[in-house]
Amino acid sequence: MKDAELFTWSDEYTVGIQEVDEQHKTLVGLLNQLHDAIHRKVGRVASREILDRLAEYTTTHFLLEESLMRVAGYPGFTIHKQQHEDLLHEVHDLQRKLDQEHVTITFELLHFLKSWLTQHIIESDKRFGAYLQKKGGLTQYSSWSEEVQAVMKKKRWWKFW
Ligand SMILES: [Fe+2]
Repeated sequence: MKDAELFTWSDEYTVGIQEVDEQHKTLVGLLNQLHDAIHRKVGRVASREILDRLAEYTTTHFLLEESLMRVAGYPGFTIHKQQHEDLLHEVHDLQRKLDQEHVTITFELLHFLKSWLTQHIIESDKRFGAYLQKKGGLTQYSSWSEEVQAVMKKKRWWKFW
């Protein structure tokens, strides 16, 4: 029997930007993989690998969101970017602790990541989604900046995981 998922996707997390929603689902999937790995006690190295993938994907995902915000002239950009940076800082700190202090990934940590993501999507990402919608959606930005296109292209190789 499969163990209960840590994080079950629900439509309430939809921000209305297709690419962002897809990436959020991937993040949720990675969190569930990590949860599953800890549950099955696959060991530090395997869990650490999933955490590293999660960290790397999160970085790419944040870059996409931030690029979209810049292109759309989003007034909440600075605050939003700060939230991203704070989270990445915590994740990098965690990676360092795992390496240097032999700390293990705990369920407590997973719940922290889950609630951070839930809250961030519902409060911050949805606010940006609504802003973009009000501005006419992404179709308004037919000439995406090169920056956004570069981030979007990067997505493909993530599919090889
Ligand atoms: Fe965000």
